Amino acid sequence: MQIASFATFLGLLSMLLSGLPGVRAAEPAPPPTDTPPTLIAPAVSTGTGLLLEPALTLPEFTPEKFAEAMATVGPEKIRRPWTKPVVTLPPHPRPDAQGLTTEEVKAYMVKAKDLFDRGEAVPVSDVGLISTQEDVIRKPMLNHIAAFSNSVVRAYLLVQRTSTDQGWSYFAIVQDLTLHPPLDYFAEFRKTGPHFEGTSCYKCHSSGPLAIHPAREDLVLDAPLAAAVSRHIAEQPRSRFFFPEDSPKPPTGAPLALKFCTRCHDDDADRAPLYQLQSHPIRVLVDFGYMPPNRRLKPAEIAELKAWLERKP
Ligand code: HEC
Ligand code: HEC
Repeated sequence: MQIASFATFLGLLSMLLSGLPGVRAAEPAPPPTDTPPTLIAPAVSTGTGLLLEPALTLPEFTPEKFAEAMATVGPEKIRRPWTKPVVTLPPHPRPDAQGLTTEEVKAYMVKAKDLFDRGEAVPVSDVGLISTQEDVIRKPMLNHIAAFSNSVVRAYLLVQRTSTDQGWSYFAIVQDLTLHPPLDYFAEFRKTGPHFEGTSCYKCHSSGPLAIHPAREDLVLDAPLAAAVSRHIAEQPRSRFFFPEDSPKPPTGAPLALKFCTRCHDDDADRAPLYQLQSHPIRVLVDFGYMPPNRRLKPAEIAELKAWLERKP
């Protein structure tokens, strides 16, 4: 082969290779923009009447009490300096995998917990709005949330307790990006390790990880980090929910069909359809003015949503 044509051949080859999916994917995708995300809007109830219990404002829970309670997880594990909000995981041992095994998924969950426990994660610490407003809990819900990724997964760890519990509980989400659409696994850590959960997570996490929403602006450590993690979550691909055998998909009834929601929450939209099973996050996100994202609902629309939420299945 002549030198010139060999060079052309090499050029073509590298063009071909770089165009192949999977060859490029070995590098984690660069962040789409370097502009810092806008801070998360403070949670203020708009008084829609959608909440089942009056909104909690937690007057007795001061920023000092909050910081003290959060540090009981181990002060060295939180408030960590950061440049990227997402910690890069080691490359996957099977770079051409199409569908991770459940053992691989659990190994990522354990890895995320280990990194957090060793103080090598970048956790956001807040009092979560949706779970704090839960009509059954009615107590500040303390959350540390950390994000991780490599070319095959996006993983999240939640280290959580209420303001009165002693110990912290661990939860994880792993999104398998080797499948199209990606598949989301949910687990609670038990003594034996991660245990996959279905309905108990699906009732709030219908489209995978949830955006960060601090219950109060002063009950969050590092607001720029919270905004950066939340933006990473919002940029997730549309995914499916993995239901384990011992917790299959529950009967849902008809999906929410109000057009001011289905533009984004539908079978062929950005987010999965919503059902009455998700009424708690729906009530909270709409009442606090986060949904729909760009405008307030008119009174007639609120009435329509309320009627749908109260409809007998
Ligand atoms: C009552 C609603 C609710 C239920 C039920 C629920 N979560 Fe969440 N979860 C949330 C909210 C709200 C956040 C974000 C909280 C914040 O702003 O701090 C969250 C955050 C998380 C995160 C951090 C990543 C993210 O989505 O922001 C993980 C991991 C997580 N949850 C796992 C689970 C698992 C596993 C289950 C089931 C065992 C579960 N959750 C059940 C409401 C819920
Ligand atoms: C313009 C698109 C858009 C519209 C319209 C919209 N949503 Fe959303 N919704 C989103 C996005 C994006 C997220 C995830 C990011 C976030 O939580 O900020 C989301 C998240 C949610 C969630 C959390 C579960 C999930 O999918 O992550 C609920 C519940 C929700 N929306 C309810 C509603 C309701 C009820 C309406 C109608 C009143 C509505 N949304 C209208 C875009 C929209």
